[in-house]
Amino acid sequence: MRLSCTVNGTPQQVDDVWEGESLLYVLRERMGLPGSKNACEQGECGSCTVYLDGLPVCACLVAAGQAQGREVGTVEGLTPAGAAPGELHPVQQAFLEAGAVQCGFCTPGLLVATDDLVHRSLAEGRKPADAEIREALAGNLCRCTGYEKILDAVRLAADRMAADPTAEAAR
Ligand code: FES
Ligand code: FES
Repeated sequence: MRLSCTVNGTPQQVDDVWEGESLLYVLRERMGLPGSKNACEQGECGSCTVYLDGLPVCACLVAAGQAQGREVGTVEGLTPAGAAPGELHPVQQAFLEAGAVQCGFCTPGLLVATDDLVHRSLAEGRKPADAEIREALAGNLCRCTGYEKILDAVRLAADRMAADPTAEAAR
C-alpha cells in the first residue's frame, strides 16, 4: 500500500507499506526519522510519542495506514517557528538546563509529551500545575529517575514559553 501523509510539515509518500506496519516503523525505517524510539512496542512506555493531527499518540500502536492524509509531528520537528539550524526548542533547552535529559529512549517521548502539555496549558492562559505535569507524563516511563528534574524542566519550559508565545513547535 502507498502511504501519503505530512511529517513535520513536509509531504511524505512511501510505497509497499505492509498493512501490519506501525506508524513508528514507517517513521523510523522508511522515512529516516529515528528520533521516536521503540522501547516496548506495546503502548506502555511513551518512547514513541508523536503528534497525529496535533494530538500525542503512541506511534507503536498506530497502524501506518491510519496516518493516511494526516499530519504527523515527531521529535525531529520540535523546533520553534523560524528557528535557525541547531537552535533548540524551549522544551529541549529546559531539559538541558534542568539536568532532566535521560537516555535516548525515554527522552524523545518526554519532550513531545511536555511540549503538548505546555502548549495545551498555555492555550488556556495558565501554566500546568504539578499534578497535571505528573498526570501528563504518567505514560512516559523511565525507571532510572525520580522525575524531579523532569518536573523542574517542565516548569521551566512553561515559564519560557509563556514569556515567548512565538516559541511554538511545528505540530
Ligand atoms: S514503544 Fe510505543 S509505547 Fe513503548
Ligand atoms: S529509560 Fe531512559 S534513562 Fe531511564
